[in-house]
Amino acid sequence: MIATMILVLFVLATFPCYFQLLVESQTPLGYLGQWQLLQASIGISAMHMQLLHNDKVIMFDRTDFGPSNLPLPYGHCRVDPYDKALTTDCTAHSLLYDIATNSFRPLMVQTDTWCSSASVLPNGTLVQTGGFNDGERNIRMFTPCWDETCDWIEFPGYLSQRRWYATNQILPDGRVIVVGGRRQFNYEFYPKNQNNNSPIHLSFLQETSDPNDENNLYPFLHLLPDGNLFIFANTRSVLFDYNQNRVIKEFPPIPGNDPRNYPSSGSSILLPLDENKDYIEAEIMVCGGAPRSSFEGALQGNYMQALSTCGRLKVTDQNPTWVMEEMPLARVMGDMILLPNDEVVIINGVSLGTAGWEHGRGPVVTPVLFRPYENIGSPWRFSIMPPASRPRLYHSSAVLLKDGRVLVGGSNPHVFYNFTEVEYPTDLSLEAFSPPYLSPMVDQVRPNINYMTSAILGYRVFSYITFTVTRYTSASEVSVRIIAPSFTTHSFGMNQRMVVLKMVGVTQVNVDTYYATIVGPSTAQIAPPGYYMLFVVHAGIPSSGLWVQVQ
Ligand SMILES: *[C@@H]1O[C@H](CO)[C@@H](O)[C@H](O)[C@H]1NC(C)=O
Ligand SMILES: *[C@@H]1O[C@H](CO)[C@@H](O)[C@H](O)[C@H]1NC(C)=O
Repeated sequence: MIATMILVLFVLATFPCYFQLLVESQTPLGYLGQWQLLQASIGISAMHMQLLHNDKVIMFDRTDFGPSNLPLPYGHCRVDPYDKALTTDCTAHSLLYDIATNSFRPLMVQTDTWCSSASVLPNGTLVQTGGFNDGERNIRMFTPCWDETCDWIEFPGYLSQRRWYATNQILPDGRVIVVGGRRQFNYEFYPKNQNNNSPIHLSFLQETSDPNDENNLYPFLHLLPDGNLFIFANTRSVLFDYNQNRVIKEFPPIPGNDPRNYPSSGSSILLPLDENKDYIEAEIMVCGGAPRSSFEGALQGNYMQALSTCGRLKVTDQNPTWVMEEMPLARVMGDMILLPNDEVVIINGVSLGTAGWEHGRGPVVTPVLFRPYENIGSPWRFSIMPPASRPRLYHSSAVLLKDGRVLVGGSNPHVFYNFTEVEYPTDLSLEAFSPPYLSPMVDQVRPNINYMTSAILGYRVFSYITFTVTRYTSASEVSVRIIAPSFTTHSFGMNQRMVVLKMVGVTQVNVDTYYATIVGPSTAQIAPPGYYMLFVVHAGIPSSGLWVQVQ
């Protein structure tokens, strides 16, 4: 069969009218995406979420909150003399959600994971770092399993410092860097250096901390193709060499003097890195946030308008400058999630106030689809999507699933999971947002992956994928991408990244089957080792994903 393959180089002339129709109906006037309520209550708040490579999503909130609405299995209780709300607690504060069956089972965390951070190691084990009170210097590991037996394993006192509101990034060598946290102007690594585990001072974090409300917690970290770390805190950003503990350069501050990090929580992404270019450019986006005095305002009942601006910085340029633009809706506490077809969804959050309990008003229930490769000002650059059924304020989160949906949960968990006497009560529901590309209207151009030569994607190694498409348009409309699933909390998707793989060619095998030749990522700086979701995208419509391990 392989001998009969024909290289498809030109647009198939057969379907031009169909293709035109498709382009038109992809506009916001066509289908808009849909919401689905998956669970009215999962019993805990989806404050922190991570998709694992067995298609289960691990979620956790905090242990010092009193009893959740999810009991632990009979006879299991957590006894913690340091717990601030309940020293014997027979309820769960973490769970594992199974996407395929839309079901979940409780997990046991021993100490407080509130406002913590995490990264998935190259072998698929999740390492969670820090939290609050008795959990602030602990790490916890969770190794996905194919039965119902796996649970958290806790390592008390592993960290050199308390890590509360810190950010993590997986590194090219498989280590994890843990940066900052409340009153922590330093960073450290997992695994720790057994000989010298002292934290390393980073004055940038001290300099960017506002006296009253900080505005630099959960700094935005992005690993760049040159192996350095981009760190954004408050309004400032640097290119940082973590090996030499050296700031290589400081970028201009984001225009407007308004902070973008917690509690003025905007969100940030690294746009897709494209291996088909001779020189791989890296662009960072930061969207939304709150004006500098918003936190103080909210304390006095004055909920200021959130920021409606997005900034974009091409950090690989010699002297980059921010390009600013307006989003259609102002938003603080939004999440930015990379979608497989180059769109970005900006989802969750509010239009007034800041992060923190009862500090936000005016929920923005409508996600916005952002198309970073449309021209600024183009009517298709942003599209407003239909509203969710629930407000998602503080402590909400969002992650991309392998089937292309965006899972959304959490909002304003109150002590004792109190559902009354507050304007925006605890919300324990789970919803999924289906972007327009999931519409059955485009099923005919949607690629379906049949087969890939190996589930291991080696650096610079050739791989072959076969896929079917009912209505094929052209080889130039096909691309293959990998996406690292994010650890999302507090409006930032840690470790989220997309790499567009080098495409050697697409060959037609038979009437509806094609064969794509791709090359694995060129370096571990571009794609750190680990599990990624691989998508074939055809004419702007993604396939369902396939897990691959980059190594
Ligand atoms: C992954 O590596 C970590 C650290 O060495 C180890 O604790 C964990 O058990 C490993 N997971 C798997 C699935 O092998
Ligand atoms: C919610 O909190 C209020 C104020 O603390 C308290 O009076 C009320 O009993 C709580 N409700 C529940 C269901 O715990």
